[in-house]
Amino acid sequence: MSLAMDYVHGYSAREGIRLRDQANALAELLHSGTRYGAGVRVLEAGCGTGAQTVLLADRSPEALFTSIDVSERSLAEAGRRVELAGYENVRFLQADIHRLPFEPSSFDHVFVCFVLEHLGDPAAALRALMTVVKPGGSLTVIEGDHGSAYFHPASERASRVIQCLIDLQQLAGGDSLIGRRLYPLLVHAGYRDVQVTPRVAYADGSRPDLADAITLKTFTAMVEGVADQAVGQGLIDAASWSAGIRDLKRAADDDGTFCYTFFKAVAVR
Ligand SMILES: C[S@@+](CC[C@H](N)C(=O)[O-])C[C@H]1O[C@@H](n2cnc3c(N)ncnc32)[C@H](O)[C@@H]1O
Repeated sequence: MSLAMDYVHGYSAREGIRLRDQANALAELLHSGTRYGAGVRVLEAGCGTGAQTVLLADRSPEALFTSIDVSERSLAEAGRRVELAGYENVRFLQADIHRLPFEPSSFDHVFVCFVLEHLGDPAAALRALMTVVKPGGSLTVIEGDHGSAYFHPASERASRVIQCLIDLQQLAGGDSLIGRRLYPLLVHAGYRDVQVTPRVAYADGSRPDLADAITLKTFTAMVEGVADQAVGQGLIDAASWSAGIRDLKRAADDDGTFCYTFFKAVAVR
């Protein structure tokens, strides 16, 4: 059985590699401050192919993770990745955030990364997750915000291809500008002590490795992944698309710069 839904980035092998590169490049930036103690029960909701799962398991080797996703295929890949890395503190389960197969208060903490942006009703998802975390337990959410991407040399054509991704995600029922909404979403969902920190990813010519990992392999690769949809749905013509991607890649050159803000929220039930 597959519960997999349509989501804008799809489930291709290429997208799996992009998610892995993204997680590795941004591990410290996104995961700093997140560690769980021995025996602590953590639900990772929307684990995908396990890119964050291995980082979670590595940083909290004695915590007990339950990682869920709607995609059977992604779960299989995540299972392989965790097994290969030798972690034994993760169990995987095919499940939908909106129909969680857990008793109330089954978990001490919940971790969600790059998932809410794809959901039609992220507030409902946050309320559903609240039911399975114990009172006093925490929820950690990490999301991007594509409106926060800026770069040098500035390019209208590059901004246009980014806008195509934003539009496609919106057409699919998601919100790729959700990072800036995390605070009100969590407060309205009923969480308390909500703390949001912007986590800025920046790359320039002094760190070609970061420019490669962040500008090219994370951000540009994500935009490139929706090429067929953007052109196929008539949002942009093929030549303008190629020119925009070319300009975006230019930001990874020695004299280019790129900046993007992720938002990490921690809240208490
Ligand atoms: C962009 S991926 C992020 C995966 C992983 N958290 C990471 O950071 O690499 C989003 C994942 O959320 C999953 N997903 C979307 N809606 C879901 C739902 N309602 N319940 C569970 N998983 C869901 C998708 O199948 C996909 O694997």
